[in-house]
Amino acid sequence: MLWGTSASGEYPAYIGPGVLAAGFWPASVEGRRFLVTDGNAGRLYGDALEPLDGRVAIMPGEQSKTIAHAEIVWTELARAGMTRQDIVVALGGGVVGDLAGFCAATYQRGVAYVQVPTTLVAQVDSAYGGKTGVDIAEAKNYVGAYHQPKAVIADTDTLLTLPPGELAAGYAEALKTALIAGGELWEQLRAGADPTAPEVIAACVRTKLGIVAKDERDGNVRQVLNLGHTVGHAIEAATGYASYRHGEAVALGLLAALRLSGQDELRTEVTELLSARALPTSMEGVDPDAVVMATAAPVLINHYPTASPAERQTLEFVFAALYRAVVEGMWQTLETIPAAVWLLGTAIAARAEPRRSIFWILLLLGLANAGIGLFRLSGL
Ligand SMILES: NC(=O)c1ccc[n+]([C@@H]2O[C@H](COP(=O)([O-])OP(=O)(O)OC[C@H]3O[C@@H](n4cnc5c(N)ncnc54)[C@H](O)[C@@H]3O)[C@@H](O)[C@H]2O)c1
Repeated sequence: MLWGTSASGEYPAYIGPGVLAAGFWPASVEGRRFLVTDGNAGRLYGDALEPLDGRVAIMPGEQSKTIAHAEIVWTELARAGMTRQDIVVALGGGVVGDLAGFCAATYQRGVAYVQVPTTLVAQVDSAYGGKTGVDIAEAKNYVGAYHQPKAVIADTDTLLTLPPGELAAGYAEALKTALIAGGELWEQLRAGADPTAPEVIAACVRTKLGIVAKDERDGNVRQVLNLGHTVGHAIEAATGYASYRHGEAVALGLLAALRLSGQDELRTEVTELLSARALPTSMEGVDPDAVVMATAAPVLINHYPTASPAERQTLEFVFAALYRAVVEGMWQTLETIPAAVWLLGTAIAARAEPRRSIFWILLLLGLANAGIGLFRLSGL
């Protein structure tokens, strides 16, 4: 058992084989249980959570993580007579966990919920930390709430029924966590450890809980957990949440992030680890410009809410240049130092007032180009 702590609450996380079959339920969680699940997880494991006073099942898959599906869940909970003293039980992968958690955060202005993760993505990552929400067409996870569960029950035996593609997707999240954690977890995964082993799952969870304990609301250190997710989420949004599993998009996002940070050797090793699990290492059939725009969308909304259409166009152009340089491989042909100056300048400029930011971005872009020219001329 691990213990999750955060500014808004504490909860136990039970991780191991056979927990559901043993009929386990945390003594600390009281109230009638209302199951929210999807067709697959509900059929396989729903009965293990009896007694249940209500059941709502959504269609499996990311396309069910929408506000329309939240409305279905709220409505079904109300029809089943759920009160504020009752518990939502989120049984399934990250889609169910995020959606049911969001419904719990909002139903009657907030009720308790328990996460029962049944995918590797959910057992190593999504069931902990209290980030809940749904996607919108413009950006992933853009509507939601922080709402910590009352408990997490991760039965590792449920992973035995998981299709290989879903296991691989979970491996990408475990690998992300190992890259953040470094040390023993990274050594285990790079040496080929089974990511479904309870001790590996527990190590991933320990890493995540440790970070969330310091920063529940993504104010600073929690942002490291988003490694690979900026481009990963953009790929998902640009493809209508239909072409790649979340973990597959994260795999691609990790490679983009490693290229961005100039970690070529590590990137090669990560590419090999991903390929060995049949995870994608290059984008197929995706419009790169659509990914660029999807990467830019959250940044534009957050940093340039008052930008005019012309300013937006300029920024999108800059993002397109960045994407082509970094993600499509031209990075190797650029000189590292001026490019790094450009990136740093962009980051600093993004904090400034919109009109001046655009000025600084363009100026630094020009300076970087001039620097590249000088380097080439001097033959360095
Ligand atoms: N909240 C967070 O901190 C956080 C972190 C990481 C990911 N996420 C979210 O998680 C989602 C992805 O989750 P996911 O990869 O679990 O996908 P998912 O929930 O869509 O599940 C994948 C598939 O596996 C099926 N399934 C689930 N358990 C099964 C089992 N035991 N046996 C057989 N089939 C089973 C599901 O029905 C589904 O078809 C994304 O929306 C992502 O944004 C959230």
